[in-house]
Amino acid sequence: MHRLVRLPLIVVVALVGAVTALAARPAIERMVRSFRTSSSPGAGFYDAAAGLFLGGYYDDIAADCAATLGDTGSPSVLEVGPGPGHLAERLLTLVPDLRWTGLDIDPAMLAATRARLVRGGLDDRAVPVEGNVAALPFGDASFDLVVSSFSAHHWPDAEAGFAEIRRVLRPGATALVYDLPPSWGHVETGSSGIHGADAVFTQPLVSRMRGLGPLTIVSRVELRRPPDAPAPA
Ligand SMILES: C[S@@+](CC[C@H](N)C(=O)[O-])C[C@H]1O[C@@H](n2cnc3c(N)ncnc32)[C@H](O)[C@@H]1O
Repeated sequence: MHRLVRLPLIVVVALVGAVTALAARPAIERMVRSFRTSSSPGAGFYDAAAGLFLGGYYDDIAADCAATLGDTGSPSVLEVGPGPGHLAERLLTLVPDLRWTGLDIDPAMLAATRARLVRGGLDDRAVPVEGNVAALPFGDASFDLVVSSFSAHHWPDAEAGFAEIRRVLRPGATALVYDLPPSWGHVETGSSGIHGADAVFTQPLVSRMRGLGPLTIVSRVELRRPPDAPAPA
């Protein structure tokens, strides 16, 4: 190709490349943020993957929550980081008078939750709230149970998150947190994950939910706010 033709061609290709990169920048930034908060490129992708691979976990967790609530009438439950709402759907179905509040940092995840609960006719007992676990927009002692699955290793300040969870639990109430080993969090966000509970709750009860040989893949952590706990300062 002649030099006089090649030069304008290079300029045009470079310009198109630059404009495309600029236009795609917000989408790329959204994707990077989403990887940090949910290990996925976006809510739609996570929703589909979770539906395919995590259904058994949600069934077990919902049953565990129901057993923990026992005969608490019309229980008020906070789910931290509900993502697209697979567990919320099961909880609201399993416990017909349960009132669910879901707090998530990602508005796209909350939109997916809302859509799922509307489809299932469960949205009248559900309140999705955008926010950060490290600064919960709820009063002290508001909930009979706090639950969270596969989210804690994404909380950059896990200790602050667990302090907030303790604050919003009614005295004597329990938080159930299910998560991957904290080493995942160290790599993704620098989070201490479930270890963040150690400084906040006395005697966190850690057990293994799923494992592979000697390796724990998912832990179940039970955290109880003592019945006589003083009101937070
Ligand atoms: C891996 S997804 C898990 C979703 C769902 N709980 C499940 O089990 O499928 C992690 C969720 O936690 C949310 N999340 C991450 N960091 C958060 C924070 N600091 N405060 C509240 N939610 C957060 C994400 O937006 C995402 O919806």
